[in-house]
Amino acid sequence: MEFQTPGTSLLDWSGDGLVLGFFQGDQQLSGPLSTLDEKILGGTLAEVIAETEFEGKPGSSTTARVGSKSPIHKLVLVGLGERDKATLDTLRRGAAVGIRLAKQNRCKQVGVAFPLFNDDAALTTQALVEGITLALHQDVRFKSETNGEAKPPERIDLLEVGSQPEAITKAKGICEGVILARELVAAPANLVTPITLAETAQQIAQDYGLELEILEREDCEKLGMGAFLGVAQASELPPKFIHLTYKPVGEPRRKLAIIGKGLTFDSGGLNIKGAGSGIEMMKTDMGGSAAALGSAKAVGQLKPDVEVHFVVAATENMISGHAMHPGDILTASNGKTIEVNNTDAEGRLTLADALVFTEKLGVDAIVDLATLTGACVIALGDDIAGLWSPNDEIAEQFDKASSVSGEKFWRMPLEEKYWDGMKSGVADFKNTGPRPGGAITAALFLKQFVKETPWVHLDIAGPVWADKESGYNNTGATGFGVRTLVNWVTS
Ligand code: BES
Ligand code: MN
Ligand code: ZN
Repeated sequence: MEFQTPGTSLLDWSGDGLVLGFFQGDQQLSGPLSTLDEKILGGTLAEVIAETEFEGKPGSSTTARVGSKSPIHKLVLVGLGERDKATLDTLRRGAAVGIRLAKQNRCKQVGVAFPLFNDDAALTTQALVEGITLALHQDVRFKSETNGEAKPPERIDLLEVGSQPEAITKAKGICEGVILARELVAAPANLVTPITLAETAQQIAQDYGLELEILEREDCEKLGMGAFLGVAQASELPPKFIHLTYKPVGEPRRKLAIIGKGLTFDSGGLNIKGAGSGIEMMKTDMGGSAAALGSAKAVGQLKPDVEVHFVVAATENMISGHAMHPGDILTASNGKTIEVNNTDAEGRLTLADALVFTEKLGVDAIVDLATLTGACVIALGDDIAGLWSPNDEIAEQFDKASSVSGEKFWRMPLEEKYWDGMKSGVADFKNTGPRPGGAITAALFLKQFVKETPWVHLDIAGPVWADKESGYNNTGATGFGVRTLVNWVTS
C-alpha cells in the first residue's frame, strides 16, 4: 500500500473509490466538492446525499457506485459529526471508517478528501495516514488459512492537502511502531518471552543505530535488583533487563526515558490468578514494554534531536518450587525493603528496580507505562489510561501529546493518605494495600523509587486490548501508548 499527496485537484483525480469526509450540516455542497459534482459526477454526489438522507452524523456513512465510465467509480461518504467538536482524532477515525468501506468495495486506487483540521494540512495528512494504516493492519500470523478477505487498496491519494511527503513519512514511522507494539502484545507467551523481547530490542538497535545494553540475571544481582529478581525467580526463562538508547547527532535538546512493564506472562505467582481472573489474557502484561519498543522503532526512524532511553525489566511471573512465597521480604536496588503480601502485584516490583536504574541515567523526565492494575480498568474502563504525576508540567506535556495522538488519559490523584494502607510491620512497606483505590496505591508504590526526576506513571491495563473493532483499532492489541509517546518525545 502506497500513500501519495499528488497535489492534483479533486477535478483531475481518477480511481476506483473516492472517500469524502463531511461535517454535520455540510451536505450542501460548496467549494471543490460542488465543482466536482457539477463537472465530473453529473450531480450524482448531491443525489446520493439526498437519497440516503446523509447528514454527516458521527459514525454514519454511505457508499454509492457512480459507474466505470466516470473517472471516479465509487463514492464513500463518511460523517464526521459537528465541526465545532472535531479533533484530530475525528479525522483519524473517519479515515478508518472510510478506508474499511473502500476495502470492502474492492477499491484498488483510493482518493481521500477530508476537511482540514485547524487549516493544518500537515497534521491532517498525518492523522489520515495513521487512521488508514492502523485500520488496515491485520494480524494473520497465527492463522493457517485466511479465507476470502478483501485485499487492501494498493494506492491511496490524499487530496486537497498539497504536497506532504514529510507528514506521510512521520505517520508511517509512528504506525510501524504501533504495529510492532500490537504484534508483540497479540503474540502469546510461548512466542514472546523475555529472550525474544531482548531480541526485538537488538533488531531495533541494529536497524536504526541505537545503543543496546542487556543486563543478565548476574548483572542485575550485582546492582541489587532484588525486587525484579524476586518476580523472576520461578520462571524457567532467564530475565532480561533491556536498556536501549537513541542518541541524536549533536547535543540533545532533552534527555528522556520511557520504561515499560515487561511481564511476558503473569500467572499471579503463588497468589495464582483464579477462574474468571482473565489469566488467559496475561500475555498482554508486557503491553508497556511493547509501547516502549514500538516507540523506539518509531524514534529510530524519525530521528528527533532528543536523547531517549527505553528500559524494560522483562520476565515472567510464574510458580515453581523456588517461587517467591507470599510474605517474602525483598530488597530493591535503592535499599528499600518490601514485604510481598501478594505475589500478583508483581509489575510494581519489576518497575521499582527499573525506576531506580533509570533515574541514575540523569534524564530530564521519566515516563513508565504498565498494565499495572485491574483497579484502573474498573475506574476508567477500556478506553482510558490512568495518569499519575507529582509534576504538573510533565502532566501537561502528556495532555498536549494526547490531544494530538487521540489516545485518552485521565489524571488521577497521588493521595498520600492512602499510603497508610501500604505500611508493613516487618519491612519498609508492603507491595499491596486494601482493594479500594488499588490503582492509586500502586502509583504511590512506584513513587517510592523516584527521588527527584519529573516522572509520570501511565496505567494502560484497559486500553492495551480492544474487545471489539472501533475506528482504527481492530479487535485485539491496540498498540496503545506509542502515538502519545512519540508525540511527547518529538514535541
Ligand atoms: N497484570 C495485572 C493487572 C491487570 C489486570 C492487567 C487485568 C490487565 C487486566 C497485575 O499484575 C495484577 O495482577 N494486579 C493485581 C494487583 C492486586 C494483587 C493488588 C490486580 O489488579 O488485581
Ligand atoms: Mn499480577
Ligand atoms: Zn501483571
